[in-house]
Amino acid sequence: MSTTRAVITGVGGHVPDYVLTNKELESIIDTTDEWITTRTGIKERRILKGKDQGTSVMAVKAIEELLQKTNTDPAEIDLIICSTTTPDMIFPATANIIGDKIGAKNAFGFDLQAACSGFLYGLVTGAQFITASTYKKVIVVGADKMSSIIDYRDRATCIIFGDGAAAVMLEPTQEPVGLMDSYLKSDGSGVQHLHLKAGGSRRPTTIESVMAREHYVYQEGAAVFKYAVKHMADVSAEIMKRNNLTADDIAWLVPHQANKRIINATSERMGIGQEKVMYTIHKYGNTTSGTIPLCLWDYESKLKKGDNIIMAAFGGGFTWGATYLVWGYDS
Ligand code: UT7
Repeated sequence: MSTTRAVITGVGGHVPDYVLTNKELESIIDTTDEWITTRTGIKERRILKGKDQGTSVMAVKAIEELLQKTNTDPAEIDLIICSTTTPDMIFPATANIIGDKIGAKNAFGFDLQAACSGFLYGLVTGAQFITASTYKKVIVVGADKMSSIIDYRDRATCIIFGDGAAAVMLEPTQEPVGLMDSYLKSDGSGVQHLHLKAGGSRRPTTIESVMAREHYVYQEGAAVFKYAVKHMADVSAEIMKRNNLTADDIAWLVPHQANKRIINATSERMGIGQEKVMYTIHKYGNTTSGTIPLCLWDYESKLKKGDNIIMAAFGGGFTWGATYLVWGYDS
C-alpha cells in the first residue's frame, strides 16, 4: 500500500505597505542603522497601520492569494490553522475570523500559539489530518502583527520585529514528496527570558499593568540568542542525520528569521553554503510565525519539485524544531 503524505501545493503571502526603516528607528530610539545591520542583518520591516487592523487582515490577504494561485474554491477548505502570537482578540480564535472573511463555510479552524516556531508546529499538526485521511485541504497560515506588542522604547527588542503573514495549502499525495519528518521541541523554563507579562489570566489588564508597560514583549536578547543558536543548529543537524541527508542533498535551508547571526550559525553547523539559505530578514525583520512561510513565498519561483528542504525555528516558550520536506511542484 502506498503512503499518503501531506504536500504543500501552494503559497500565498502578504506584507503591509508601510516600511519602517532603520533610519526611521534612529529618530525614535537611540540606535544606528550600522548597529542594527551588523548585529541583526535587518535593514527594514513592514508595519500594519490603521484603526482596527488586526493580524487577520494580513492572513486573509495571504490566503486570498493562495486560493487564487491554487484555483481553490473556499468552500473546499476543510481546516484553517492560524499560527499566531498576536491574535485579533484573546477570543474567539483568529482562524475563525479568517474563515468567515474568506468564505470557508465548510471549514473549522483554530489558533496555535508556539511563538516563532508556530508555523512549523502548525504545519506538522495540519499534516496529521492529511496523513490520517481525515481531511483533504488544510490551510496553515503563519501571521503576526508584532508591532501591536512591541515597546518602541525598548531599543534592544523593537529593532528586530515586523508584521507579515503567509499561508500554505496542504493536500494528500501518494508521490514521494511532502512532509517527510519533523522534530519539534519545547521547554517551558525558557519563559523567564521571553514573555509578555500582563493581559493573560495570570495578570489581567489593569491601569497599573498598562502604566508599567507590561503589555509589550519582554526579551532578554542575549540569553535568547544563546539558546537559539544552539537549539536551531542541534535540531537541524539531527534531522539531517536521521534522514541520512548530507549538505549536498539539501536544496534549501528555510530558517526562522530572527537574527542573521543565528541563521549563519545554523547553516554553518549543517555545512550548507549561503546560496542555499533563504533570507528575507533584511526586508521583513522577524515576523514571528510569518517568517518561514514568507521565505517560501519569496523564493517560490526558485523551488523545484523534488527539492529537499529543511525548515528550522526557535522562539518563545521556548519552542524550537526542524522539518524535512520534499517540495511538490515546479512554479
Ligand atoms: O524570534 C525568536 C526569539 N528571538 C530571538 O531569537 C532574538 C535573539 N536575540 C538577538 O537577536 C539579539 O540578542 C538582539 C538583536 C535582540 C540584541 O543584540 P545583542 O547583541 O544581544 O545586544 P544586547 O542586548 O546584549 O546589548 C549589547 C549592547 C548593550 O550596550 P552595553 O550595555 O554593552 O553598553 C545595549 O545597550 O548593545 C546595546 N544595544 C543597542 N545599541 C544600539 C542594544 N540594542 C541596541 C540598539 N542600538 N538598537
